[in-house]
Amino acid sequence: MDARQIRSTFLQFFESKKHRIVPSAPIVNKNDPTLLFTNAGMNQFKDYFLGNKEPDNPRIADTQKCLRVSGKHNDLEEVGIDTYHHTMFEMLGNWSFGDYFKEESIAWAWELLTEHFKLPTERLYVSVFEGDANENLAPDAEAFELWKAYVPESRILYGNKKDNFWEMGDTGPCGPCSEIHIDLRPQAEIDRVPGRELVNNDHPQVIEIWNLVFIQFNRKADGSLELLPARHVDTGMGFERLVRAIQFKSSNYDTDVFQPMIQQVSADAGIAYGKEEQTDIAMRVMVDHIRAIAFAVADGQLPSNTGAGYVIRRILRRAVRYAFTFLNLKEPYLYKLVEVLSREMGEFFPELPQQQDFIMRVIQEEEASFLRTLEVGLRRLNDLIAGGATAISGPVAFELYDTFGFPLDLTALIARERGLTVDEAGFAVEMEKQKQRSKQAATSETGDWVTVRPASQPTEFRGYEELSSQAQILRYRQVKEKNKDRFQLVLDRTPFYAESGGQVGDTGYLSDGQERIRIVDTKKENDLIVHYVEHLPKNTQAQFEAVVDADKRQLTQNNHTATHLLHAALRRVLGEHVQQKGSLVNDKGLRFDFSHFAKLSDEELQQVEDMVNERVRQNIALQADTDVPLAEARDRGAMALFGEKYGDTVRVITFDPSYSVELCGGTHVPATGQIGLFKIVSESSVSAGVRRIEAITARTAEHWVRQQQQQLEELRQLLKNPKDLRAAISGLLEERQRLQKSVDEMQQQKAGDLRGELASSMQEIGGMQVIIQQVSLPSADVLRSLAYELRQKFDRLYLVLAAEIEGKPQIAVMFSDTLVE
Ligand code: ALA
Repeated sequence: MDARQIRSTFLQFFESKKHRIVPSAPIVNKNDPTLLFTNAGMNQFKDYFLGNKEPDNPRIADTQKCLRVSGKHNDLEEVGIDTYHHTMFEMLGNWSFGDYFKEESIAWAWELLTEHFKLPTERLYVSVFEGDANENLAPDAEAFELWKAYVPESRILYGNKKDNFWEMGDTGPCGPCSEIHIDLRPQAEIDRVPGRELVNNDHPQVIEIWNLVFIQFNRKADGSLELLPARHVDTGMGFERLVRAIQFKSSNYDTDVFQPMIQQVSADAGIAYGKEEQTDIAMRVMVDHIRAIAFAVADGQLPSNTGAGYVIRRILRRAVRYAFTFLNLKEPYLYKLVEVLSREMGEFFPELPQQQDFIMRVIQEEEASFLRTLEVGLRRLNDLIAGGATAISGPVAFELYDTFGFPLDLTALIARERGLTVDEAGFAVEMEKQKQRSKQAATSETGDWVTVRPASQPTEFRGYEELSSQAQILRYRQVKEKNKDRFQLVLDRTPFYAESGGQVGDTGYLSDGQERIRIVDTKKENDLIVHYVEHLPKNTQAQFEAVVDADKRQLTQNNHTATHLLHAALRRVLGEHVQQKGSLVNDKGLRFDFSHFAKLSDEELQQVEDMVNERVRQNIALQADTDVPLAEARDRGAMALFGEKYGDTVRVITFDPSYSVELCGGTHVPATGQIGLFKIVSESSVSAGVRRIEAITARTAEHWVRQQQQQLEELRQLLKNPKDLRAAISGLLEERQRLQKSVDEMQQQKAGDLRGELASSMQEIGGMQVIIQQVSLPSADVLRSLAYELRQKFDRLYLVLAAEIEGKPQIAVMFSDTLVE
C-alpha cells in the first residue's frame, strides 16, 4: 500500500465501525491558552472529554496535523538526527466519547493492524499501565486481560507512568494507555536479542506506532487527578511510522511520504541520499521541517518574532542552516519543495495547492532574510577566530544560537574545524537563564475551576439578540498575576461576545442589584466563554443581570461589517487571490491583513473605498443564517478561511448575496447604513505577500474628516485666507527658495573673509602652523568646510575653531597629514 491507500484504509475501517470521519483541525491552535500548536489528535475534542460540550456523534475518527515542537511534547532536537521523530506529523485517531471503551478499542486496533494492514503479529508488542502508588492508581489488569485474547503474554509488557499514562499537558484530560510497538529489525537480529527487551528503549527499529488512551481523569492545576463524569477512548497512531511498518522500511524517510522530496533535494544539491551521515541528516531535517512550515503558513501562521510565529521561524532557520552548511545551498531553496509537497499531499489537504504561491513566497522571503543573518553570524565567528580567540564562550555561543539561529552542534562543528573549543556548560547556563526570563515574563498562574452550579450544558450565548441577559455563575477560577489577582467566570447564559474571528471581546458589567462587577474582557477557551473580572461577587449564588457596554459593541460591529464589505471590495478590485490573513476589529477601527503581492496604488485604494461606501449607502440589511450545512454555505459562495475550525453547520453572514457572503460568528449591524462612513487611513506591508489596510468608520471617520478639515482651515487662516490655498503655499515655497539662495551666497562670502583673517592670524609654534580662534558661524557644516579649506592652505596646520551654533558649543580640530604622521 502507498501512503494514500494507508490513510484511506484507516479512515474507511473506522467508518465501517460507525465512526464519523471529520477533517483535521488547524495545526495552529487558537482559543487555547495552554497550547500553541495542535500536539495530539484529541486537542480539538478536549471539551467533549471534560464534559463542557456534547458531541453530535459519540464516535469520531480522523487524521490530524500535529506539531510537537514546544511545551510538554517537544521532539525538535531529535528530528532529522533519528529516523522516526518529526516536527509535523499526521496522527491517525479514533475516539469514543462516553461510548465504547477498552474492549472495542483494543479489538479494533488489532483487527486493523493485523487483518487489513497485515502487519506480522509476531513482531507486535503491546504495553499496559503498571499503576503508580504516588498517584494512587492501580495496574491496568483489565487491559492486560483483554490483550491476552490476541497476544501471548510474553509480548504484553507493563509500563510505568512515563510511558503508559498519557497527559495532554500540565493540565487537562488524561488516563492510562496501552501502546502497540513493532519490531522492524532483520530476523537474524531478532533471533539474537528478543524485541521485548528493546520496547520503549529508544531503539530506532523497535518503535511505538499506536497509543490507545483510556481517558478517565482530568489533571488539575494543583496536580491532583479528578475523575471525569464519563470514560472515553483517545487513540493516536503515527501515520509516518505506520507507513514505514507496512512498507517494511528501516526509516520513516524511506517511505513514499518523504522520498519524493528527498529525491528532489538530492538531485538539486547533487548529493546522493544514503552517502554520508551528515548530508543525510541535512536532507531529513529539510524535508521534515518544510512540512511543518508549509502547513503552519497554510493555516495562517506566518513566521514572526513572538509566540507561535517565532516557533515556525526557528524551525525554518534550523532547516536553512542545515541546507546551507551541509548541502551548500546558499540561496533560498526550501520554498521550492512546497511544489513537491503540495503535489504529494494536496489531494487530502487542499489548503496546500490552493495557497501554493502564497506559501512559497512567504517561505522564500523568510529564507532570504535568514541567509543574510546567517552571513553576519558566520562573520561574527570568523572575527572571533581572526581576533585570536581559542574558545567560544557560553554567552557568544548563546548569542549565535539566539540571534543567528546557530544550534549548538553547528557552532561546535565550525569551532572544531578551526581548532577552537566551545564552552558548552556556559551555553547551558545562558539557556537556563533565558528559560527563567521567559518564565518570569509569563507571570500569571491559573487556578482550577470552582464549581458554583453543576451544568452539563454549555453557556447559552444570547449576544446576537440582546445586550442584557439574566445570568447565573456556573463556575469561577482565580488567576494570579504579578500585581493583582483576577477572576474568570463562566455563566449559564450571556450576551457577552468572546473575542474571536478578529472581533474583540465585549466589556460591561454584572449586577445582582447589590453590587456591580465590571467585566473587563471576554475570551474563548476552546468552546467556553470566559468573562474576566477584577473581583468576585460577594454572593456567587445570586441572580445577575449581565449587561454589555452597548456603545462599544455598536462601534465594534460597525467595524466588523465594514471588514466584510472591505474584503468583498478587495476581491473585486484586486482579484480572487485576496484572502483574509488576519483581522482585528474593535471599537476604534479595523485592521485587515490579506494576501496580495504588491502595494496598492492610490487608484486601487480609492476604488475600494468608494465601493465600500456605496454599499454603506445602499443600507443593505443583514442576513444572518445559523446552522447552515457547511457544503451549502460553500455553494452560496461563502469562503471558508484556512486555519479556522468549522463544525458541520456554520453561521453565514450575508450582505447582499451577490456581494458579501462569509462564514462568521461575529456580531454585525442590522443594516449597512449604520456604518455611516468608511475611510481607509493606511495601507502597508506585513510580510512577504501580505498587505494590511487600516480603516475607520462611523463617528471615528467623521472626526477624522473634521480634523483634516480643521487643519486646512487653520492653514488658510495662517495664510490670511488666500483665494487659492495651493497657489499661496507654492508661492511661499518659491520665495523661501529664493531667500535661501541669497543667504547661502552671503554666508559663502562671509566665510571667505573669515578664512583670510584666520590665515593671517597663524602663528608658528614648535614647527606647527597654529590657528586657535573663536569664530561666529551660522552652521556646523560651514564650520567644517572652513576647517577643510584652511587645511588646503597649510601643510603643518594645527587648527582649533570654536563656535556657538544655535546655542550649542561646537569645536572643529584639524591637523595636517604631515603632523598626523
Ligand atoms: N493522545 C494520545 C497521544 O497523543 C493518543 O499519544
